[in-house]
Amino acid sequence: MSMPQPITLGQTRLGPSVFLAPMAGITDLPFRRAVARHGGAGLMVSEMVASTEMVTPRPSNRAAVRAKALTEGALPVSVQIAGREAAAMAETARIVAGMGARIVDINMGCPAKKVTGGLSGAALMRDLDHALSLIDAVVAAVPDLPVTLKMRLGWDEDCLNAAELAARATDAGVRMLTVHGRTRAQFYTGQADWSRIRQVANLPGRPPLVANGDVVDAASARMALSRSGAEAVMVGRGAQGAPWKLAQIAHKLWATPAPAIPEGAALSDAISEHYEDILSFYGNDLGLRVARKHLGWYAEANGAPNRAELMRAASAQATLAAIRAGFGAAAGAA
Ligand SMILES: Cc1cc2nc3c(=O)[nH]c(=O)nc-3n(C[C@H](O)[C@H](O)[C@H](O)COP(=O)(O)O)c2cc1C
Repeated sequence: MSMPQPITLGQTRLGPSVFLAPMAGITDLPFRRAVARHGGAGLMVSEMVASTEMVTPRPSNRAAVRAKALTEGALPVSVQIAGREAAAMAETARIVAGMGARIVDINMGCPAKKVTGGLSGAALMRDLDHALSLIDAVVAAVPDLPVTLKMRLGWDEDCLNAAELAARATDAGVRMLTVHGRTRAQFYTGQADWSRIRQVANLPGRPPLVANGDVVDAASARMALSRSGAEAVMVGRGAQGAPWKLAQIAHKLWATPAPAIPEGAALSDAISEHYEDILSFYGNDLGLRVARKHLGWYAEANGAPNRAELMRAASAQATLAAIRAGFGAAAGAA
């Protein structure tokens, strides 16, 4: 199978066609920087920005800090927005465009109750007229930026309407579509069904398409592309504890430069750098908590023998020592 050509959106060339998925609480600036240090990705999508959070008269400090970081870094960052009111979505799109977003992505894929309960995220797939009113408002609000859309296959087995939403979004001016090969009802259970994304791939005149769900290595990426007919893949959980995973997949599929896969001392250095970045970005208290989940994933993905110690460490110093002991020891470096 010949590999699809890189996608260009506006002025931005998204090469290679392996993209980092938006993951709230995970794909923050320190994680995106870690991905960038390890070979990068064709596109990184920010954590979701709730429109309600952005358009309040006095956003909380934390929201402001998080928002400022959305577009930082020399990366082709797409900022994802979520919400259910056209005016607030349009205003949020204008705000993130003013902050330097190169692409605005609309979230119609998130299954979380907190989001769907507010009738945004995947819940919008139950009411396509309403979904389209949001898309129209966002496209009109940022005429100079490409607007993209992320969705699931549908709400449930009785409502598999990704192709209908994709067709209407295409007519409304959406410039790239990402489809996670599960319904909302499935949450994250079972296996993503990439072949069901093909109904979107077959739409005449559609924009570039990205397949998402359970892509974890080069073999699954290749299979996702061939089954779905998409031009690119998006990787979320597969990059947890392995920020080099995207570059690794790109190298195998598109012959881009191979990232160094850190081992031993290089691995403990890479994890320590990510860890210190988290602490300086969030401050010590919140940073220690945010870092813990990443350390758990690093331990899982790289087989650190001292996972419990890593999780328990109460100070930055103790954690850095545990990182050196757990990840550096394999190569005899401490
Ligand atoms: C913790 C977590 C947070 C997520 N947050 C978002 C989000 O903010 N916006 C979004 O569109 N999808 C979000 N997703 C969904 C992912 O972008 C992706 O569609 C899904 O995880 C399937 O891809 P994967 O199997 O490669 O992880 C999230 C997923 C996880 C696990």
